[in-house]
Formats: sequence, C-alpha cells, structure tokens
Amino acid sequence: MSFITRDTWRAAEQLEAGNLVGFPTETVYGLGADATNEVAIRKVFAAKGRPLDHPLIVHIATYEDMVAWARDISPLAISLAKKFWPGPLTMVLPKQPWVSDLITAGQDTVALRIPNHDLTLKLLVQFGKGMVGPSANRYQYVSPTSAQHVIDDLGAEVSLVLDGGPCGVGIESTIVYLADNQYKILRRGSLDVQISDALASVDSLPANYHAIKAPGTDLLHYAPRNGLQIVAAHELDDTVYTAVQRGLNVAVLSFHQCPANLIGAKVIWQQVELTAISYAQHLYANLRRHDHPHNDLIIWEQVPDTVEWAAIRDRLTRAVGTQIIKCTTVA
Ligand code: TXA
Ligand code: MG
Repeated sequence: MSFITRDTWRAAEQLEAGNLVGFPTETVYGLGADATNEVAIRKVFAAKGRPLDHPLIVHIATYEDMVAWARDISPLAISLAKKFWPGPLTMVLPKQPWVSDLITAGQDTVALRIPNHDLTLKLLVQFGKGMVGPSANRYQYVSPTSAQHVIDDLGAEVSLVLDGGPCGVGIESTIVYLADNQYKILRRGSLDVQISDALASVDSLPANYHAIKAPGTDLLHYAPRNGLQIVAAHELDDTVYTAVQRGLNVAVLSFHQCPANLIGAKVIWQQVELTAISYAQHLYANLRRHDHPHNDLIIWEQVPDTVEWAAIRDRLTRAVGTQIIKCTTVA
C-alpha cells in the first residue's frame, strides 16, 4: 500500500531499498528510482509500461553532480546550468562511461536536470545519489501535477508519494541537446523563450538533425482516454451544441462564457483565463478532470498562436494525436 507524505527521509530510505517513489517538481510529478541501481530502474519501466528504448532523465541536486554523470561539459552547458538550474530545463550531454545503458537507452548521452522544488532538492541531498524520474503517469497518459494524480495512476507501484502540493509550472521541462557549441531543442517547455534568448549567439542544429532522438516526444502522448477536439473560438459554441444535440456528454474548456443556449444542457463548461502561465499550470489537471467516464467528448477552444503558448500547443497537439495545431518555431 502506498501513502502520501512530506517525510523526505522515508522517501530516501525507499530509494535506497530499490523501491519507487513519487516526487514533486515544479513541472510535473516524477516516478523516482535510484539511478545507480539497475533493478530499481527496470521497475520504473515496468510500472509505467514504458518501452526500454525511451531514455530517462537523471535528477541531481547540485552543479557539481553534473560531472559525475556527464563528460566534456562545455562552457555553454555550464552557463545554461547557472542561469536556469534549479529549474525546468533538461540538458542532454555526453554521458560518463559508467552510466547505465538502461537510463540512456544505449545512447552516448545522458539527460540531466536540477528540479526547482524544495522537498525534492532535500530528498536528493539526503539520498546522496542521482534519481531517475520520468513523469509519474502510465505510458502515453496525461502527466501528473499532484500527489493524488500519482496515486490514481501508479498507487500500486510506488512505495510512497512525496507531497509537494500542485506543480507550479504544470508542463514538462524544456529539453535541450548541446554539442560542440550547437544546440537543438528536443522538447518545448515553459522556458523556451528565455533559453532561445540565452542561446542567441549559438548555432542551432537543423530541424531535420535526427542523430539525437528523444523518444516519447512523438505523437499521441499525454492523451486523455476520451477524445479531445481542439476547435477555433468562432466554431466552439456550434460544435458543442451539435454534439449535445447528438446526445453526447461534453466537457468544454473555453476562454469565454457558456452561451445561453447551452446553459442547463449536458455540458461541463469551464471558463479559464487567457494566460499561458496559468493555462499550463492547470492543463493536465483539467485534462484529467474532463477525461471522466461520464463524458463522451472533450472539446477545448484553440489557444493563441504566439510563442508564449508554443509549449502548450505542442502538448495539446500530442493529446489530440494529429498535427492540427500550428507550432511557432522558437529556435
Ligand atoms: O519536467 C520533466 O522533465 C519531468 C520531471 C519529472 O522532471 N520528467 C519528464 O520525464 O518529463 P519523461 O521521462 O516523461 O520525459 C523525458 C524525455 C523523454 O522524451 C526522453 O526521450 C527524453 O526526455 N530523454 C531522456 N534522456 C535522453 C537522452 N539521453 N537523449 C535524448 N532524449 C532523452
Ligand atoms: Mg512523460
């Protein structure tokens, strides 16, 4: 039986014993295991139902830990670490030879991040080693942003979940691959604009540079079980009305109010602020809530086409499973 706690020593004990723990970060909750214990790492893949060729991020506590895991660390990587860590940035760097192939999926690189969450930083210091940590959801389901979400998805697999409250950022870290003064953004996140600014004088690798892969950032990730449709603002009310006329229960997320002709209908109409930061913070909790067995369909209003919303459009695109939402290039 798993339980929710704020006791970091108990979590460190469980990691040391080779067990899995849920842990909070500023982005999403992670599924933690001792990154030096292959038996424990295998449990992470088994618990999530994740294919072994999807590499894991190693969470570390200090800049000094970088050299334990990565080699040939460039001045660029150090400057990004100093600027953005602890924070929602993951850097893919050349790995130290001893780092397990299970973590890196046999690649010559390792993904590192110092998360910005007091409880998890305390845990990492007390544990004294690196901790692998994919998002604590079942493979291809919506990421968790509260301790309860972790229990809902993986309660039978984790020993405990460290409760750090709801995640402040709400979407996963930006992943950047760095090599020989060139870089490529492998996954968008909340820091894309700042990271692109910090890398303004560095060449970006071409978009079709495929030597480095980040499996798991493919389509149909973060997907709710009920279908999600993204609809332009001017078509939203009519689309929902038509679905309701067909007898469907619909959950709607919109920037405007429920129109009069839908009040009292079988619709959950959620109006949200038109602010990227707050939208990201609640994105996965809203998806999970709308993905209720009582709902037949989830219909959400299209988000703005500006760079601040790029990471959100990316996640929505993947939740829908087709490239219907145009992404603005940030690199
Ligand atoms: O915000 C986050 O990054 C969260 C929290 C818990 O830290 N973690 C997270 O982990 O999102 P996960 O496993 O759900 O996503 C990690 C992504 C995967 O798409 C994986 O392919 C990529 O990171 N990745 C890991 N190691 C890599 C490597 N060596 N090279 C390229 N991509 C890598
Ligand atoms: Mg994930």
